[in-house]
Amino acid sequence: MTSTATSSLASLRSDASVRRGQALHFVMDGQRVQAFAGESVAAALMAAGHRTLRQSPRDGAPRGAFCFMGSCQECLVWVGARKLPSCQVVVSEGLEVESLAWREARP
Ligand code: FES
Repeated sequence: MTSTATSSLASLRSDASVRRGQALHFVMDGQRVQAFAGESVAAALMAAGHRTLRQSPRDGAPRGAFCFMGSCQECLVWVGARKLPSCQVVVSEGLEVESLAWREARP
């Protein structure tokens, strides 16, 4: 399994007194994920309950977004032909994102 989504984490978004961009969807490992214009992929994934974005190559431990500023590289994903930190990629309608494991498992 490449990412973890649990319904109990879906409530991470604060709805009170928050102005958001337009609602949109992008695709993560073949699944539609709701987001709002202006959010990073990492933030939208976390809000949707996707905490694990990859596994440690050393011991297989789950890894996920940590610094949210492009330094730790724990949130790497594929966006098209580029491997990028998901915290540095702004969501857009229909954006296709793949976890490292998902891309590697593709035929
Ligand atoms: S969370 Fe650290 S680089 Fe994205």
